[in-house]
Amino acid sequence: MMNINSALPAAPSVRPKASLRRFAWDLDLSQDELVQLLELTAALKRSPASYARALEGRYLSLLFEKPSLRTRLTFELAIKQLGGDAVFSNGLIAEREPLKDVARNLERWTHGIVARVFSQQTIEELARWSSVPVINALSDLYHPCQALADVFTLKEHFGQLRGLKLAFVGDGNNVAHSLMLTAPRLGVDLAVATPPGYAPNPEIAAVAAGLAAASGTSLTVTSEPAEALRGADAVYTDVWTSMGFEDQAEERRRVFQPYQVNQRLMEMAPGAVFLHCLPAKRGAEVTDEVIESPRSLVFEQAENRLHTQKALLLMMLD
Ligand code: CP
Repeated sequence: MMNINSALPAAPSVRPKASLRRFAWDLDLSQDELVQLLELTAALKRSPASYARALEGRYLSLLFEKPSLRTRLTFELAIKQLGGDAVFSNGLIAEREPLKDVARNLERWTHGIVARVFSQQTIEELARWSSVPVINALSDLYHPCQALADVFTLKEHFGQLRGLKLAFVGDGNNVAHSLMLTAPRLGVDLAVATPPGYAPNPEIAAVAAGLAAASGTSLTVTSEPAEALRGADAVYTDVWTSMGFEDQAEERRRVFQPYQVNQRLMEMAPGAVFLHCLPAKRGAEVTDEVIESPRSLVFEQAENRLHTQKALLLMMLD
C-alpha cells in the first residue's frame, strides 16, 4: 500500500526545538514563547501541508474527566494532521490507581499527555510525575488552550493585539482566569465584569494585575458591565454554569441575568466583535441575535483551537 506521507514535504526547518515540558497554566508559556506560538500558528494555518509530517511517529494521550467537543476533536485532529496519532480515555483519572502511576504508564507509551480535569491539582500531579509534556485541556482554574485560540482570533481579525480592549462579561471562571493571564502579556487591555460573589480568584487576579502593570496595559475587575464595555473592541462571555456547578444552575440564572450579552449590551461597545468559547446557551449568557450576528467570531475561535494547538504540540513534543 502506498504511504501517503511519502508524497508530503518533510517537516520544515522552522520547527522550534521542543523545550516546554508543561502547559499546566498560562504562565508556563513565557511572553516570548506566546509570541512565537502565535507566529507559528499563522504559518501552520497558511500552509498546513508543510507540517504534515512534523510529528510523524508521535502519540498523544488524551485523558478527559469531563465532556468535550472542541478540545478533544481539535487535539486529535492536530496530532493526526501533523503526522502523529492519539489515544483517548475518559473517566476520573485517579479512580483506579494513583496519578503518579498513571503518569509513569503514559510516559512509556506516548510523547505527551493532554488532560481535562476537575481539579488543577490533577494536572499538577500528572506534570510532576510525567517525563513527557503535560497540557491542561481545562481545569477548575484555567483553560489555557482556549486563551491561545482567543488571542490568535483577535490578532487575525484586528491585525495586531497591542492597544485592543477586551471585555469579559460573566462568570469569573477558568476562561476568565486564562484570559487575565494571557491578554495583558500581549498588550491587550482587559476588563472583567462579574456579579458580586463571582469575581475571579483573588490570587490569580493579583498575578494578572502584576502582568498588566509590567506590560503597561490596564486590567479592570468590576461588577458593572457598562464599565467593562466602555471602549471595548471585543466582548466575551461564557456559560453561567460551568461543568461541575450544575447544582447552582437556578441561582446562577437569576444572579447572572443582568450580565446577559444581548443587543442592548453590545450597543454599549459599538463596533466590538463577539467572542464565546462554546458551547453556548442561547437565551442565557448570550442571545441568539448576538451569537448569530456578523459581529460574532465564535466559529473562527473554534477553528483556531485546531491551529493554535498544532503550534503548541510542535513546541512541546520531542
Ligand atoms: N471551548 C471548549 O473547551 O469546548 P469543549 O468543552 O467542547 O472542549
